[in-house]
Amino acid sequence: MKICVLPGDGIGPEIMAQAVRVLGALDLKLEMEEALLGGCAVDATGNPYPEAAQKLARAADAVLLGAVGGPKWDALPREQRPERGLLGIRKDLNLFANLRPAILYPELANASSLKPEVVAGLDILIVRELTGDIYFGQPRGIETREVEGTLQRVGWNTMIYAEYEIRRILKVAFEAAQKRGKKLCSVDKMNVLECTQLWRDIADEMAKDYPDVELSHMLVDNAAMQLVRAPKQFDVMVTGNMFGDILSDEASMLTGSIGMLPSASLDADNKGLYEPSHGSAPDIAGKNLANPLATILSAAMMLRYTFNQEEAAQRVENAVKKVLAQGYRTGDIHEPGTNKVGTREMGDAVLAAL
Ligand code: NAD
Ligand code: IPM
Ligand code: MN
Repeated sequence: MKICVLPGDGIGPEIMAQAVRVLGALDLKLEMEEALLGGCAVDATGNPYPEAAQKLARAADAVLLGAVGGPKWDALPREQRPERGLLGIRKDLNLFANLRPAILYPELANASSLKPEVVAGLDILIVRELTGDIYFGQPRGIETREVEGTLQRVGWNTMIYAEYEIRRILKVAFEAAQKRGKKLCSVDKMNVLECTQLWRDIADEMAKDYPDVELSHMLVDNAAMQLVRAPKQFDVMVTGNMFGDILSDEASMLTGSIGMLPSASLDADNKGLYEPSHGSAPDIAGKNLANPLATILSAAMMLRYTFNQEEAAQRVENAVKKVLAQGYRTGDIHEPGTNKVGTREMGDAVLAAL
């Protein structure tokens, strides 16, 4: 079981250190090797996804990633930015299926920004397409051209999906729904965008092959509203790259903090990259303040999806539940009466619970 570990930037190395400790305590034959991705890789090599990381990631069975990016690199040309490294590795490894489960642990009901009764028992799976859409569509650019008689700067991107891309992500979503509550909500903007009209048409066609799954459609603006009005109406949500990016950050807050939301990005053979859904949190980096649980829970997803180690995955998840029940809280989920700890101490608590 070979794991390529990419701590990245900002809080990345801090949260990754805790996830690696947890994995190391599991009595599994895991081989972990580190490489640079993101801003740290730009600093060292000028390339956000350098060859060493490419080699290691391609040879590994799974990739565990912290987070990339930060203000230090924001002014660089686009192809040298840390985020380009992240998009590059997703595309390189063909990780088109991004699973972002938003689960509310009962102990965190009061940390959610919504009333406890609205979120109690929440368990949503967001299936986000990850290698297409406006993120990768061509043409794209910024240029100066004549517009209505004056020279102006124009910026443009292309929202585009080919049928095979839509079919393969919907297949993942239908199959996930079959294994869960058998409800699938496909989110689009078909009232305006042709690209997502095609998405909806294909979802309707495929629904015939999954008679046990109840398929519904929702426009993305309504979906954003419904997620905070009555989130428990959802079981599995499936959507494109950009809508999924936005809706999964929104859903994370229902669970108490974005520091709780893990993710798996899978190819067709369940080779995967696992990372928290949050970013490099430059505002709290280097201060032992970040919540490592999303990364630790991402490691649990890795054990489940890539390595078929369901028991070990549950052991890690149960340890997380236990530390929450014991009252351990990083600043992002802290409330009066609980025990405020730092990143490292949260890792210590998870290890003790294991
Ligand atoms: P962010 O997710 O990094 O931070 C948003 C807010 O959430 C901040 O206040 C931060 O302190 C807090 N937060 C995030 N993770 C936390 C954790 N584990 N524990 C406690 N608090 C946490 O989003 P941003 O500020 O918009 O982006 C910062 C940088 O991260 C940017 O360069 C962005 O491109 C990058 N980014 C990377 C990824 C990734 O690597 N997958 C994802 C999102 C953003
Ligand atoms: C995420 C991030 C990335 C995305 C950025 C950093 C490229 O926001 O993983 O959600 O938009 O996919
Ligand atoms: Mn995002």
